[in-house]
Amino acid sequence: MMHPSAHAHFARTLIRWYGQHKRSLPWRDTLNPYYIWLSEVILQQTRVAQGLPYYLKFVDAYPTVEALAAAPQDEVLRLWQGLGYYSRARNMHHTARLVVEQYNGTFPNTYAELLKLKGVGTYTAAAIAAFAYKEQVAVLDGNVFRVLARVFGLSDDIALPASRKIFQQLADTLVPADAPDTYNQAIMEFGAIQCTPVIPDCLFCPLQQECFAFTHGLVQELPVKAKAKKPRPRYFHYLVFELAGAFYLRKRLEGDIWQGLYDFYLYESDEKNLPPKALLQELAAAGIPVQEAQLQLPAKDYTHVLSHQKLTARFYRILLPAPLKEEVLQETRLALYTVPQIEQLPKPILINSYLKDAKILVYL
Ligand code: ADE
Ligand code: SF4
Repeated sequence: MMHPSAHAHFARTLIRWYGQHKRSLPWRDTLNPYYIWLSEVILQQTRVAQGLPYYLKFVDAYPTVEALAAAPQDEVLRLWQGLGYYSRARNMHHTARLVVEQYNGTFPNTYAELLKLKGVGTYTAAAIAAFAYKEQVAVLDGNVFRVLARVFGLSDDIALPASRKIFQQLADTLVPADAPDTYNQAIMEFGAIQCTPVIPDCLFCPLQQECFAFTHGLVQELPVKAKAKKPRPRYFHYLVFELAGAFYLRKRLEGDIWQGLYDFYLYESDEKNLPPKALLQELAAAGIPVQEAQLQLPAKDYTHVLSHQKLTARFYRILLPAPLKEEVLQETRLALYTVPQIEQLPKPILINSYLKDAKILVYL
């Protein structure tokens, strides 16, 4: 372990670097815990360039936590559409309601109290406490893990939950009492811009002399991160029922991906290739008699990779001569939506891509 004065030097170096290199970002010009929270929820597992437009949309649509709490879930998910990890949006919405109902619309002002909020984890609690209230806590995200692993030579696998404690212990000793907000922004920014995952800018790095990874030639080896398991393949066969220019969709339930988003009637199979006959049998069994001639075969495969799953989807469009029966609607939870209504529904990107390719949504 380095000498404590080396720790002070580390923080000062990062803060100086930050002063020269930081990007100007809207959530850095505010002490409003609601805006800080919003930005950190959006930026988890999302890069700044991708998250920024979403942050601006959310601040515009919901300028206060009360406004977010009062919004319908469909609207919040629709605004989130395209960011992925939709549970973040659902939890965020849930937490907004909690803050309004149980905390009078005011975020708690300490790390410990913030952590008690259901839906606020260690990362978000630390970020709000440090940025809004200048509490001396370390914010740990992927950037921080990487910088610490390299500079201090920590070889614990950052994919393991147990490693978090080790990093948090070190990280907490590094936060200077007089600038916890600037220091935390600085180390995250340093990881995002200077000490990047693949080709860090070691040649022009102010920490070069003291960096363990650089001085030991281990920059490519650190941080240690176990390879993720191969994503599980899933094959989705979607039936796109169309009736007089409107379409049947349903809201997805909990217990699987995309909870709260809308998609079509889904037949999931172990097979990527499914003979139309098998599909028609499945539909007949579900009380939806369809003739083979009605079935428009899929033009292409749509693939989408989630953190643990790789989806392949095919869309079969079916022009219905009459509405689906009431029992079928009850059983499948499908409902008929006009195209303008579909535009407003929150949808997985995969579904949105199909809707555009099929020219069902043309004005996006
Ligand atoms: N990533 C996560 N939080 C961030 C922040 N506050 N600024 C820039 N990038 C971030
Ligand atoms: Fe990161 Fe390279 Fe600087 Fe070390 S020398 S902190 S690895 S950029």
